[in-house]
Amino acid sequence: MTQAIIVHDKQFVPYISSEEIEKQVSRLAREIERDYAGKRPLFIAILNGAFMFASDLFKHLEIEAEICFIKLASYKGTKSTGKVITAIGLDEELYKRHVIILEDIVDTGKTLHEFLPQLDHNHPSSLKIAALLNKPDSQIYDVKVDYLGFTIPNKFVLGYGLDYDGLGRNLDSIYQLTEE
Ligand code: IMP
Repeated sequence: MTQAIIVHDKQFVPYISSEEIEKQVSRLAREIERDYAGKRPLFIAILNGAFMFASDLFKHLEIEAEICFIKLASYKGTKSTGKVITAIGLDEELYKRHVIILEDIVDTGKTLHEFLPQLDHNHPSSLKIAALLNKPDSQIYDVKVDYLGFTIPNKFVLGYGLDYDGLGRNLDSIYQLTEE
């Protein structure tokens, strides 16, 4: 993994290897197992970006657990409410469940900040967040990541489920945008 790659019009350089990702995903699985043994947690993976992270994390788990997938849609609302984020495909009963959100990356935190109250509304027993990546320098909304793979600087990344304008999701490692 030494080669720079071009996706659309931009150049990206190798940043986090598939081996490092595998190591951290495995660590997260051990932490979650330790905290959720006997609780049969329900994972909610947020599409599209989290599909690879969710799949790998779930394979590593050796406790009873369930998983479902949702897609978030943003709509332009009124001037006063701004963008409203709603879940498509959330048909699981969350009442009294131990819920863990699986997110690819927390950037400004807006997505989770707006989405979490919708889940709280269903009165789960607990609600935690597992994210592969977090960019604390670009965080605007207060979102607490409970299980985190990597803290990264405020630079655009792709690969391992993350895209640049639709491309790059299939890369098994993570690349970073070259300085412009
Ligand atoms: P937030 O609402 O600003 O936290 O943005 C979260 C979403 O923005 C993520 O789920 C990603 O889909 C996308 N995103 C944020 N940063 C990046 C990046 O560096 N590469 C690719 N997608 C990103």
